[in-house]
Amino acid sequence: MLVAPSILSADFGHLARDVAAICEGGCDLVHVDVMDGHFVPNLTIGPVVVEAVAKAATKPLDIHLMVQNNSFFVELFAPLKPQYISFHIEEEKHPHRLMQKIRSLGIRPAITLNPHTPPEAIEFLLEDVDMVLLMSVNPGFGGQSFIPSVIEKTKRLKTLIQKRNPNCLIEVDGGVNDVNVKELAAAGVDIVVAGSFVYKHPDGIAKAIAALK
Ligand code: DX5
Ligand code: ZN
Repeated sequence: MLVAPSILSADFGHLARDVAAICEGGCDLVHVDVMDGHFVPNLTIGPVVVEAVAKAATKPLDIHLMVQNNSFFVELFAPLKPQYISFHIEEEKHPHRLMQKIRSLGIRPAITLNPHTPPEAIEFLLEDVDMVLLMSVNPGFGGQSFIPSVIEKTKRLKTLIQKRNPNCLIEVDGGVNDVNVKELAAAGVDIVVAGSFVYKHPDGIAKAIAALK
């Protein structure tokens, strides 16, 4: 299991320290939650802060856009050379065009699905996508409870991926811990995002990441 800790649960007064800590603690990707106050009822960080995150990180960035006007934000973050940029399918009229744009910028395109969105909604995009991010909470905040229906959804998505693009990875985000990660792994998840579990673990960040792996 690959682990992408969400820096949303970091101490933003010590952001560089907390980004370095997950990288030294053995994470695979640094998950960056970008919220615009419109698509979700929360507002987080823009390119100035993400640039500081990129400088502190020794692992690739996984940027999760929770915004309106995806194309604008893709252009804003592209110069930071993240490994992935994911956008919500619920907020995109031209997902295929946007994926082509992300790829043309040298970044791997990923699509995110809210808890209510069926995996079949993106079946005909799978051929051109590198990762699908399934939300296991309603996007907007860290520390929420895991929605168990994502397990069945992962299995359905896995079947579609095997048919359309076996190289496409599945990532799950929200309420992930050392108990539900086992079910997620069995269902076919490749990468878990975890914010509070990693940053608030009583035994520290490295132990939390190891527990998820
Ligand atoms: C929620 C974000 C998540 C969140 C995960 O909108 O996309 O990445 O920070 O935090 P936990 O693991 O605490 O649910
Ligand atoms: Zn996220």
